[in-house]
Amino acid sequence: MIRVDFNVPLDKKTSAITDDNRMRAAIPTIKKILNDGGSVILMSHLGRPKDGPEEKSSLKHLVGHLGELLGGTTVLFANDCIGEQAYLTASMLKPGEVLLLENLRFYKEEEMGDEAFAQKLAKLGDVYVNDAFGTAHRAHASTAVIAKYFPKDKRMFGLLMESEVASAEKVMHQNQKPFTAIIGGAKVSDKILIIENLLERATDIIIGGGMAYTFMKAEGGNIGNSLCEANRLDTAIELLKKAEAKGVCIHLPSDSVIADKFATYAQTSTAPSNNIPDGWMGLDIGFNACEQFTNVIKKSKTILWNGPMGVFEMEKFQHGTKMVATAIAAATQAGAFSLVGGGDSVAAVNQFGFTDKVSYVSTGGGALLEYFEGKILPGIAAINE
Ligand code: 3PG
Ligand code: MG
Repeated sequence: MIRVDFNVPLDKKTSAITDDNRMRAAIPTIKKILNDGGSVILMSHLGRPKDGPEEKSSLKHLVGHLGELLGGTTVLFANDCIGEQAYLTASMLKPGEVLLLENLRFYKEEEMGDEAFAQKLAKLGDVYVNDAFGTAHRAHASTAVIAKYFPKDKRMFGLLMESEVASAEKVMHQNQKPFTAIIGGAKVSDKILIIENLLERATDIIIGGGMAYTFMKAEGGNIGNSLCEANRLDTAIELLKKAEAKGVCIHLPSDSVIADKFATYAQTSTAPSNNIPDGWMGLDIGFNACEQFTNVIKKSKTILWNGPMGVFEMEKFQHGTKMVATAIAAATQAGAFSLVGGGDSVAAVNQFGFTDKVSYVSTGGGALLEYFEGKILPGIAAINE
């Protein structure tokens, strides 16, 4: 019985899978068990259904593609993750067969970490494998609570979980210096804890994306209409002070690509990041900042990347994110270990064709973030306990 993270994006109209990375990532564990003569029961959540079963969050939308990824293996489906049908189908599974259970979150007991629900799930399988790194930060029935209903030798990590944890540990605990963390995204508030924890470990922290302008503003710069969290200005100053005290170099983008609108048809120009004219906003790091960041990245031996440098979904504002990806690829080629995680940075790496040029691409967004915040992930702790 494998807890996978098949929380993949589906097209709103057709329910077609628009990014199957998380499904692909689970295939080695599934195949390993099938090839060793086992049968596999898969369980996952999909989306955030709040009120019981709903069509758009049904895992039945994944059955066909899963069969293809498994090379034509038939995938059985139980339209309830517990109950008689699931139990009977599970108990009649023959070696080599795969059963996918309906969305665990159709029961509120899943997110509540309900023990009776976890026990019902546990009855379906002989061995519990947790391969859902993407959901390892949730203490839910299927990700954590269930583990205690299996003896120690019958609960374990899957291959994906194992390699995710190994890569994350390598960056967190066995990093070679210089260790550069590249943190981007819109909000400082989302990244305070990770930056604080990285101040204990990294030699350099590069800050890009919308959050950089809160730092610029905090230091007295003019940022025009750029994103700014007015209630985080003090936090930004504190982080800069802590970094200085610890001898960690924080790199903010010296210049920015600016636009008069948040739109693909916007007029664009460039400006120093701390002197953006009124009516304009920074939507990407500028050309000098690209060079500034590239120099830091290229001399690094360990690299962690979480969050894009700009609005890379729009072509006009993707240069900075692309240049950072290019620099990481070059450093990796020269022997650095690079870990990329978080939905947007992973999407960028895929979009620009760098997936095979970095050391590891994580399937974790929130889970990876919490790991690097220094938190204990319940999905990992439950197996180790
Ligand atoms: C994710 O995509 O972040 C994981 O699958 C966990 O989903 P959640 O954020 O809805 O708990
Ligand atoms: Mg999430």
